[in-house]
Amino acid sequence: MQEILDKLEQARERARQGGGAKRIEAQHAKGKLSARERLDVLLDPGSFEEYDMFVEHRCMDFGMETQKVPGDGVVTGWGTINGRMVFVFSQDFTVFGGSLSEAHAEKICKVMDQAMKVGAPVIGLNDSGGARIQEGVASLAGYAEVFQRNVMASGVVPQISCIMGPCAGGAVYSPAMTDFIFMVKDSSYMFVTGPEVVKTVTHEEVTAEELGGARTHAGKSGVADHAFDNDIEALLQLRRFVDFMPASNREAPPVRPTEDPWDRLEMSLDTLVPDNPNKPYDIKELIVKVADEGDFFEVQPDYAANIVIGFGRIEGHTVGFVANQPMVLAGCLDISSSRKGARFVRYCDAFNIPIVTFVDVPGFLPGTAQEYGAIIKHGAKLLYAYAEATVPKVTVITRKAYGGAYDVMASKHLRGDVNYAWPQAEIAVMGPKGAVEIIFREDRGDPDKIEARTEEYREKFANPFIAGTRGFIDDVIMPHSTRRRVAKSLAMLRGKKLENPWKKHGNIPL
Ligand code: HXC
Repeated sequence: MQEILDKLEQARERARQGGGAKRIEAQHAKGKLSARERLDVLLDPGSFEEYDMFVEHRCMDFGMETQKVPGDGVVTGWGTINGRMVFVFSQDFTVFGGSLSEAHAEKICKVMDQAMKVGAPVIGLNDSGGARIQEGVASLAGYAEVFQRNVMASGVVPQISCIMGPCAGGAVYSPAMTDFIFMVKDSSYMFVTGPEVVKTVTHEEVTAEELGGARTHAGKSGVADHAFDNDIEALLQLRRFVDFMPASNREAPPVRPTEDPWDRLEMSLDTLVPDNPNKPYDIKELIVKVADEGDFFEVQPDYAANIVIGFGRIEGHTVGFVANQPMVLAGCLDISSSRKGARFVRYCDAFNIPIVTFVDVPGFLPGTAQEYGAIIKHGAKLLYAYAEATVPKVTVITRKAYGGAYDVMASKHLRGDVNYAWPQAEIAVMGPKGAVEIIFREDRGDPDKIEARTEEYREKFANPFIAGTRGFIDDVIMPHSTRRRVAKSLAMLRGKKLENPWKKHGNIPL
């Protein structure tokens, strides 16, 4: 017996060493943690239950039969984050560059299947040279097995990818189908074709970091939701992030008890919106002042900043915040912000997270770039997402709500449950000046007349009361009482039941 136990321990020790001390050192020299060190940071101490430590690849070509490392380049299993179960896989770059063999893929599929069965999030820590080149099509098949599971798990359990090294070629499509992608600056990249191929085909010279680094994807492409400075920061933020998530679509999000009074008044909000309607202000101040303890986890902060999205809590319950940001492009909706908002709204809806929307939107961004880029289809995504969402929806119009954008931003007509406006809200087909120049075209040469007409229009329409008389706004509330009113509405909506008609699936404008 002792002999068997010793053998077992030796095998475990071999697996723990991965590709060996030298390669782990090389990993450290690049500022990266090893696959196991990453799990140590991510999971609660002592909570990790490892699976498949002894799995080996089955490749018999190119001398691979003599090169076997137990675990085959990925550490898999489950553990807890602040006591809540998550399934994980962590690719080990020290073993064949973390490349994905058939056996490596089977290990990932096993944890994904388990997560689906029990209803718990899947977190992937990606650090891989892609398909195991020695295995050929077996490895491609392995990827496709993972992709299929990503799709089946979508909307069932939260899936989060943390890119902590290379992720290239078709391999990018697994993270792309997960709900959130975090990246680490200067040590991770994602691209479909790398710099060499780009140079050959398009003659563009670009580094891997410029082409697919964390800053590029968090700021330019919007592929990533966050770019963190290093492995530790990324993993600690991932822990904080998971705290907001429900375990699956069968469960409500977790409730975190708070000392923050639900009816806390914030007098400073009464002066948040400047007197001049053309002056910007920071909508994040409102979010932070409404959320429990000012704790707001912003998603995609560096991309399409004209819309702000992220998670917070009210009375301990997770909520998704969506808000137009007057500081960027005056809070206009454009292609990028519509896509960003739509995906977030759909995530919240899939996972039973109520949506709180703060509206200050002058309309859709005009221009050929927007029209040629299909703003019609992209804008429709946000409209579609809000319209199909059945989770509680509470909306507060803080200032402008003009045109089609008024309809889109969780209006009453898209089944907004509770719709409030601040006293200075302007709800109309368009801004007063533009409206007057169309209605009173003949007066365009006379600035005094236009000025007088504009004032008349503003008086008449640029206020919340007309919408109030139709019941499109449930009440005009004082800014300082926003948290109290939103909290009360969300509490009232906790038992909300609303179902869409049966369908195989809708056809969101993609
Ligand atoms: C097998 C691989 C590998 C791979 C790396 N290695 N990638 N082994 N299959 N795909 C091994 C290396 O041989 C080396 O082994 C170790 O991992 C570390 O690699 P290095 O090159 O020394 O590291 P580095 O300089 O940091 O470069 C990392 C890298 C590079 C940029 C990822 O290794 C690379 O370009 N690899 C090939 C990438 C690739 O073409 N993959 C296939 C893409 S196609 P030793 O023993 O020396 O430590 C694809 C299709 C997916 O992925 C399709 C899905 C549908």
